[in-house]
Amino acid sequence: MKHQSEGAPGGRADFRLHAPATARNRDAILEKVGALVAGDARVLEIGSGTGEHAVHIARQMPDLLWQTSDPDPTMRASIQAWIDHTGVTNVREPLSLDCAAEAWWRDVDFQPELMIAINFTHIVPTDCIDGLLAGASALMRADGLLALYGAFTFNGVYSAASNRSFDRMLRQQNAAWGLRDLNDISAGANRHGLKLDQIIAMPSNNHMVTLKRDQGASG
Ligand SMILES: C[S@@+](CC[C@H](N)C(=O)[O-])C[C@H]1O[C@@H](n2cnc3c(N)ncnc32)[C@H](O)[C@@H]1O
Repeated sequence: MKHQSEGAPGGRADFRLHAPATARNRDAILEKVGALVAGDARVLEIGSGTGEHAVHIARQMPDLLWQTSDPDPTMRASIQAWIDHTGVTNVREPLSLDCAAEAWWRDVDFQPELMIAINFTHIVPTDCIDGLLAGASALMRADGLLALYGAFTFNGVYSAASNRSFDRMLRQQNAAWGLRDLNDISAGANRHGLKLDQIIAMPSNNHMVTLKRDQGASG
């Protein structure tokens, strides 16, 4: 992750951060978002990071309302800087949402058609994933979707050797991180009245996994 530039015009500080992977995956993610929801959907993004996905997708889908969020103030400054820099009007200023916090969803003032977390599940402890699923269950519209983009394992199997190396590197960095198995995500979703919907193969051995309400679930 690096700073986009040394400074904004006029000598103002420029808080935009740039994550190189975004340029490689943003169009594939945009295409799937376009396929998953109506053009005027309201989207809640968890862990927006630099904010680059938000401004890119929202610019291409101008009728979307895209609510950004991140618990990290440096990331929120970057998100706001990208909003200001692009002048995009359908991206809301970032909320400080931490999926590990109790009832974090109380700070969200609308019912999203889509919640999305990009490159998230492997970089947070499992209790954050549980918190994300709980929040999706509490917040989403009845026909809402939760989309998780990133690398996963399937029945304990890596979909590529590069994902195995990535997993090892993550776990060395932080023992609480690592690729998540779809069975565990599915079991967690079931505990919150959600169920696995689609598993969509994406470039570079990533997947977009969608979850929706299990209408047959009790409670
Ligand atoms: C690997 S980055 C991905 C950022 C962005 N979505 C992307 O793909 O470029 C993970 C993001 O999740 C955020 N994050 C970490 N823990 C979180 C939590 N408990 N709740 C919400 N977001 C969290 C981090 O601050 C970081 O911005």
